[in-house]
Amino acid sequence: MSFDAVVIGAGPAGYVCAIRLAQLGKKTAIVEGRELGGVCLNVGCIPSKALISAAKLVKQIKGAAKMGIHVEGLRVDLSELITWKDGIVKQLTTGVEHLLAKNGVTIYRGMARVLSAGKVELQSDSGVLLLETNNVVVATGSRPIEIPGFVFDHENVWSSTDALKPTAIPGRILVIGGGYIGLELGFVYKNLGSEVRVVEFLDRVLPGMDPEISKEMAKSLKKKKIPVHLGAKAKSFAKTKAGLKVSVEVAGGKTEEFLCDVILSSVGRLPNAKGLGLEECGVKITEQGFVEVNTRRESSVPGIFAVGDVAGQPMLAHKGTAEALVVAAVISGDRGAAFDPVAVPLVIFTDPEVASVGLSCDEAKEQGFATKVGKFPFRASGRALSMGEVDGWTKIVVDAANDKVLGVHMVGPGVTELIAEATLALEMGATAQDIAMTIHAHPTLPETLMEAAENVHKMAVHILN
Ligand code: NAI
Repeated sequence: MSFDAVVIGAGPAGYVCAIRLAQLGKKTAIVEGRELGGVCLNVGCIPSKALISAAKLVKQIKGAAKMGIHVEGLRVDLSELITWKDGIVKQLTTGVEHLLAKNGVTIYRGMARVLSAGKVELQSDSGVLLLETNNVVVATGSRPIEIPGFVFDHENVWSSTDALKPTAIPGRILVIGGGYIGLELGFVYKNLGSEVRVVEFLDRVLPGMDPEISKEMAKSLKKKKIPVHLGAKAKSFAKTKAGLKVSVEVAGGKTEEFLCDVILSSVGRLPNAKGLGLEECGVKITEQGFVEVNTRRESSVPGIFAVGDVAGQPMLAHKGTAEALVVAAVISGDRGAAFDPVAVPLVIFTDPEVASVGLSCDEAKEQGFATKVGKFPFRASGRALSMGEVDGWTKIVVDAANDKVLGVHMVGPGVTELIAEATLALEMGATAQDIAMTIHAHPTLPETLMEAAENVHKMAVHILN
């Protein structure tokens, strides 16, 4: 079996790379040990967003009385909800299989091991197969971190995967980790009726984000009656008659105990770079466990590439997809292709949603920029008011020297969609004035970006600057 390229892993980085390679005329194989579509389609982005949409709908129905809409007899049938969610996943994974096959990609089911830049060994139910190839693309993704004392037993201690296929809505959930997953799923379970408590090791939730976003999220958690313990480290738990008793080391070294029915441990993810034979081939692995890659996403061994979560931060599906297209171009002979985006957008499907692209104020200052900031609240947007969702704001950070947009940070309704305009602005080197002078349809949420851009120059019309 001989190929131009063998891609290992069929997540949003791997399958996209394989399809693009085939589109460019390369004889391509893809090896997948589990389900096509990877974590994102099967147990990540897609099923979580399905549950988030459903849980948000429940919340909206409950809150519709303020619009004069009174719904009686609201009932969530969990097994029907999970069947609906599974149907969406199935539709997408079947679609991926179809696209791979119709583009002429050979699909192998099994576990791959890299023997050298030109050889991949495949272990499958039907035995061991040797694939010869000119290029190997490692797209093996990442897995949830397990912390001491909280081994995933899928009953008491859930990983995010378990949280996406509940058989019952737990009465009380303790979430370890106030990051992306902990908060997204925390809001889902709160909206579905659980009591939710969050334990976060650092001094704020969403610690990697603009500090004002963390503050806004803290406000929302409080409003929704989700207690958050900051500077707190989950240590261990014990089963008692009253439920799971979780010991948490809080500020000042004191230990507090909290009762719950289920623990969701969401403390980050680790790249899957070990056990693939990479180090034996001479591929350098970083201290954090990622495959070390250059801008072409080629590892320290020519002919072995890495894309997606295994190739470094940020561990986001769309970053992996963008890298995959670069690698396909490189393998197809485009010597100029490089992964060099101005910025990678970040979206979190909390309530309200969060989105961010480019530099925060602090990062911009650290990089030596003199900055100007513009901000606009959703409360002043006619569209947000008419949707009944007014929490949050849009903030633009610009370079004071030339008005160029350096970063955009948003909390509020629909911001996971709105961030696309901001990302394009950054990629195109737009100024705040460019955004301010672009006519935005009325009444729509994107007007808030335009008004935030106007506020940079103290000229927003619908707020006092
Ligand atoms: P995360 O890194 O976002 O958050 C983990 C949190 O756990 C951190 O705030 C950390 O300080 C805290 N923590 C660590 N150890 C702790 C302990 N012993 N006790 C209490 N707190 C502790 O990781 P998360 O939420 O697991 O997500 C993993 C990755 O998955 C993200 O970094 C992101 O790349 C990806 N993801 C992306 C989403 C999106 O794009 N919407 C949604 C969900 C995940």
